[in-house]
Amino acid sequence: MIDAVKAAGGFHVYLAPGTDGRFGAVLAELGLEGTALGDAEAIATPAVIVLAPGEAAPEGLEDIAIRPPADAPPAALRELLRVALQNSVLKLDVRQLEEQARRQHRQFEELNRIGIALSAERDIDKLQEFILTTMRQLTNADGASLWLKTVDDDVPKLFLASSQNFSIDNTYQAFKVPVDEKSVVGYTVTMGTSQIYDDAYNPPPGKPQGGRGFDAQYGYRTKSMLTVPMRNYNNEVVGAVQLINAKRRFDVKLTVDTVEQEVVSFRPEDLEMIESIASQAAVAIDNKTLLDSIQALFDGFVQASVTAIEQRDPTTAGHSGRVERLTSGLAHAVTEVAVGKYRDVRLTEEQFKELRYACLLHDFGKVGVREHILIKAKKLVPGQLEVIQARFEFVQRSVQVKYATEKLEAIRSDNANLEQLLEIDRRLEEDLRQLRLWFDAIASANEPTVLPEDKASMLEVLSRQTYVDMSGREHPMLDPQEFRFLSIRKGTLDEQERLEMESHVTHSFHFLSKIPWTPIMRGIPEIAYGHHEKLDGTGYPRGLTDPQIPIQTKMMTISDIYDALTAQDRPYKRAVPLERALDILHEEANAGKLDKELLDIFATRRIFDLTAVR
Ligand SMILES: [Fe+2]
Ligand SMILES: [Fe+2]
Repeated sequence: MIDAVKAAGGFHVYLAPGTDGRFGAVLAELGLEGTALGDAEAIATPAVIVLAPGEAAPEGLEDIAIRPPADAPPAALRELLRVALQNSVLKLDVRQLEEQARRQHRQFEELNRIGIALSAERDIDKLQEFILTTMRQLTNADGASLWLKTVDDDVPKLFLASSQNFSIDNTYQAFKVPVDEKSVVGYTVTMGTSQIYDDAYNPPPGKPQGGRGFDAQYGYRTKSMLTVPMRNYNNEVVGAVQLINAKRRFDVKLTVDTVEQEVVSFRPEDLEMIESIASQAAVAIDNKTLLDSIQALFDGFVQASVTAIEQRDPTTAGHSGRVERLTSGLAHAVTEVAVGKYRDVRLTEEQFKELRYACLLHDFGKVGVREHILIKAKKLVPGQLEVIQARFEFVQRSVQVKYATEKLEAIRSDNANLEQLLEIDRRLEEDLRQLRLWFDAIASANEPTVLPEDKASMLEVLSRQTYVDMSGREHPMLDPQEFRFLSIRKGTLDEQERLEMESHVTHSFHFLSKIPWTPIMRGIPEIAYGHHEKLDGTGYPRGLTDPQIPIQTKMMTISDIYDALTAQDRPYKRAVPLERALDILHEEANAGKLDKELLDIFATRRIFDLTAVR
């Protein structure tokens, strides 16, 4: 063993003062030379320190020190030294193994940490930035770039997804290279193997040069280079990561002049670690891309659903989108207020997304409401007023015929006088006037405004009037359904129709409950379910009260009412001006129906500007 050490030329024997004389011959016999023990810092291992009996070892070096007895014969000294040297070599081996184990453990921990961070990052740009920064830190690299495979007119290419350079700012530019053997990244992806270059300008035989284009553009010198393919879970190469210029010190900025002294080669042990991170990164990017496409798919589906609802009732086109913009705007404003009941309300990104979907789909249940109710613009259903009008014309003719007959009979009789005939004309006029009054009352009652008292009582009287048809059968002037519709006090829907209209909320809830939302989105059905509830319990369908209604829903309700009032495109309902709409909302809030504080934020922060027509 000593021979082996001697041959390696690395063995040191340090002699404390007063011991050298006794060891010269023994050392020579072993083919070693003693060095006088000096500064403890200068001690090179493997080594043995020979001390006089009782002498203290330099700090931290006790385990390689020996103290031979003063009277030990040369043979014993030789044996002692031999064992000590063997021990020293073994201890060094152990230390190296321990160091290696520690390093591997650190690497393992580091890879674990990176793996967790990679799978947690949702933002693709940040994800790529994190990958490059971590790789640079682990290898002391000055620059790094991430290339992803894409297809351009059926030709596979690599595009530069992200890049960093510690010494130069803003080196990123959208850039593509073909997947071929002419560029280092192209070569790496084509071969599917990692490439270590000591000098990018002098690549190993048969491999492409690197860095020259970049260097010419930025006044840089690319020297050492490590390029690693990225493989996804199918083991397909989906891109590459390139690290350039490993440095002695991480925080040194390079110039063309300092490259030679500061830049070193990438170490072979870097390779395995970077390859491992590159593959984790590939999987993370793949996952993220997959998630993005699922998200896009779902957004498309939601958009299509919204279009489906709004196409059934073109007069509400854009309503869901506007409610979404208003509610999101209000929610952001609420998270910014520092005083009041809601000063501590903070919504996460996920909660904002949840709220957006709830708003977009809040009225989706209208697909379950029959169309004639959904778009009912007057109290009577279409065609009904025309039927009444025809009936009135018939009655008018009948009245005219009746008085004409009466007149004829009077003329035929002997005692007819002018006064009598004029009296018949007056009664005819009176009856026709009454018919016109009634019909006007019907036409105005048909409008979706609040029904005035006098019109209501006139309808009441009319409903008891009858007329006789051609075959002599008696009919009411207004049938029960016509009377019921025309007697609607407010809006255009009777009790039954109103219930069907209101059922859209329950339909929305049932529909939304059928979607297997991710856990962070599971609040959507409940948020949408409450959008017609009022804080005082007068809303529908459940008559919830303030504490039972989520704040998200309270915000949506304000936006929903505001948009319903101000919507420009409803032919049967004039849009209410902004000021009046806010007044109506404030009246509702003062009556304890809407959340006052949220409405104040809505008004003072001018959330309504978000949907103002420009
Ligand atoms: Fe609704
Ligand atoms: Fe709505």
